[in-house]
Amino acid sequence: MVLLRMVAVTAASALALSAPVGVNAQNDTSAANDAQTGQEIEIDVLLARMTREEKIGQLVQRMGGRSKALNSRLGPEELDRVRRGEVGSYLHVAGADPLRELQRVAVEESRLGIPLLFSMDVVHGYRTIFPVPIAMAASWDPEVAREHAEIAAREASAAGLHWTFAPMVDIARDPRWGRIVEGSGEDAYLGSRMAEAQVRGFQGSDLSAPDTIVAGTKHFGAYGAAEGGRDYAGAELGERSLRETYLAPFRAAAEAGTASYMTAFNAVDGVPTTGNAALLRDMLRGEWDWDGLVLSDWRAVEELMAHGVAADRSGAAALALRAGVDMDMVADIYADDLAAAIEADPSLEPLLDQAVRRILKVKQDLGLFADPYRYHDTAREKAVMLSPEHREAARRSAANSLVLLKNEGVLPLIRDAQRIALVGALADDALSQLGSWRARGEEADVVTLKAALEARHGGVTYVRGADTRSDDTSGIAEAVRAAENADVIVAALGEDFDWSGEARSRSSLELPGKQRELFTGLEATGKPIVVVLMGGRPLAIPEIAESADAVLASWLLGVEAGPAIVDALFGFTNPGGKLPVSFPRSTGQIPVNYDHLPSGRPADPDLSKDTARYMDVEITPQYAFGHGLSYSSFDYGDIRLSGARIPASGGRIAIAVDVTNSGKVAGDEVVQLYVRDPVASVSRPVKQLRGFARVALAPGERRTVTFTLSPEQLALWNAGGKWAIEPGRIEVMVGSASDDIRARSAFEIIGEGRGRMAPAAIPTRVEVSGQKR
Ligand code: BGC
Repeated sequence: MVLLRMVAVTAASALALSAPVGVNAQNDTSAANDAQTGQEIEIDVLLARMTREEKIGQLVQRMGGRSKALNSRLGPEELDRVRRGEVGSYLHVAGADPLRELQRVAVEESRLGIPLLFSMDVVHGYRTIFPVPIAMAASWDPEVAREHAEIAAREASAAGLHWTFAPMVDIARDPRWGRIVEGSGEDAYLGSRMAEAQVRGFQGSDLSAPDTIVAGTKHFGAYGAAEGGRDYAGAELGERSLRETYLAPFRAAAEAGTASYMTAFNAVDGVPTTGNAALLRDMLRGEWDWDGLVLSDWRAVEELMAHGVAADRSGAAALALRAGVDMDMVADIYADDLAAAIEADPSLEPLLDQAVRRILKVKQDLGLFADPYRYHDTAREKAVMLSPEHREAARRSAANSLVLLKNEGVLPLIRDAQRIALVGALADDALSQLGSWRARGEEADVVTLKAALEARHGGVTYVRGADTRSDDTSGIAEAVRAAENADVIVAALGEDFDWSGEARSRSSLELPGKQRELFTGLEATGKPIVVVLMGGRPLAIPEIAESADAVLASWLLGVEAGPAIVDALFGFTNPGGKLPVSFPRSTGQIPVNYDHLPSGRPADPDLSKDTARYMDVEITPQYAFGHGLSYSSFDYGDIRLSGARIPASGGRIAIAVDVTNSGKVAGDEVVQLYVRDPVASVSRPVKQLRGFARVALAPGERRTVTFTLSPEQLALWNAGGKWAIEPGRIEVMVGSASDDIRARSAFEIIGEGRGRMAPAAIPTRVEVSGQKR
């Protein structure tokens, strides 16, 4: 309210000089009185005072710097733009003090005093860097994702930021696509849970709290389906896959209240998402009834011309605005060309007002009109960054993200009794553990595997051996010598941070550099070999899968990578993560996602038959979705259903299973629920995840996991373009991985019903022995 009064005063004095277009003084006065009474009206009052130029200014997001040189562009000319009301938001800016000054210019020196929105890609931590998102998804614990987002928001908001471009919820089934590292993998259900958890973590329950920020869920559309895994390439997919799979996590984010979305760069079936009114205006805003702020990706409005759907800049501006893009990230197309587009087509004018309203609403929800300086507390900024509690959370999250892919008895290592040869450039690569998008993360904050292992164990010999980026094999001999003199080899192999991320597609998923040769040399020593597999994507590692004694997928784990890995190697912790994406046997096998459609001729090892298999490689993935071992073992009981039949509307079914830790050590098991609709109007996937629970079990402990499903979670997008619940049998499978089903049952849906939304977007209620989640 304080600022609004100030706005009123400033505006009133300015009115004498230049009356806003289309607003007469009488309207303005009565509206100003109304402004005291309700939030919506306040925005309308402000809107009524704005000139068209000021309105367009709100739609403009400019770069205050680059992602590696924040604030570097905030010179005098830029500040003059702010004074003239030509900017609504900045990205790649940070710092409580510098942003207070920038905000001051906007609030005190522009005609209407509208505060700016400050934004950045805070994707897996701000200063305290957590595991990369694909790793957090491997925890199969949405609480890991929520907590990371909450901490990231606490640190980012303390540095003056209001808005992050995260979570990235693009489903990715092609590991050649480098951005697979930024999301939650191949599955719509797991992806949806991670999406909603992060939205809740960033935004908390009150956006105006000084330690929460706006989530910018991205990249709306089907960016992850880029053809051939080539970044920015178009997605060729049917509406059913789009709705059921690719858009499901976006819907889950909407249900969790995401205040903004960013559009994808690419096209779906030929229509670039940034100019796609059917997707953004009709579906997102219409069908989903979502009314937040839509931002384009970096220059995506301008790129509408390169896509060949706009002839010129004002055409691109009109197309994007009409589609429902409220804010233009850095292209300055709205800034420079929207006015001309509106002159040419006045029907755009109300769309401009809508966009401005949405942007002002986000500013209002953040509390910026009440106190534009609430995010600029330098004492808080100093206190929260990389605090011991944040590091501790990063370590827990790193521990939970580890996936034990293979173990033939070598892990856990015998504490203190062994001479260890630690090999591989990645073991000593601090920067890589920060992964793609590291916000304000610093290399010096990272504890590497080498540092952590040497700190914890007396007998470590470290040799780089081979690099991730060179074909130099000269270090291999020394690594082999070290291996010969050791009792066990720990080889850190995989990809460094720069092999994955934006514009980091690969045509081959093999280990880069000469790491394969290094592995072959080490393996030839006959010493037990543990591979710690690092990187941001699934790799094709058939030799390692075959010959290593143990393989621990450690992704890129953030500042606490080393200690988390060492804890697991020695059995101080027990790996309990599961793969959020299948690992192929070879690059040519992709996509190899578990929830494919059935074939009329399913793969048969008998090569004399014509079936859906490869001549040169097994049809199954190397490691399936949901796979992950433990130092313990888990037994599953039979499935108990609450009934055999449920009505299509209003029905519920409880699916219970007992899980027992049958091993000698405590461990976590991720109990996974899959369903299949064997006969429907359209062919349904062979299996679909519809529930999971990560359960901690002491040795011998048994717990009951109960999943409660509603028929809406079994709906499909039918041939008539509707969500439909069809009658018939539903098969239920519970297991330890998508390829390790331990119990099966079935029930029947009686009658027909309507679905509400993508079934994967709807969370299943899970109870673990009386504990609800
Ligand atoms: C990326 C987005 C990111 C934006 C701003 C773009 O290149 O695609 O994910 O949020 O840059 O840094």
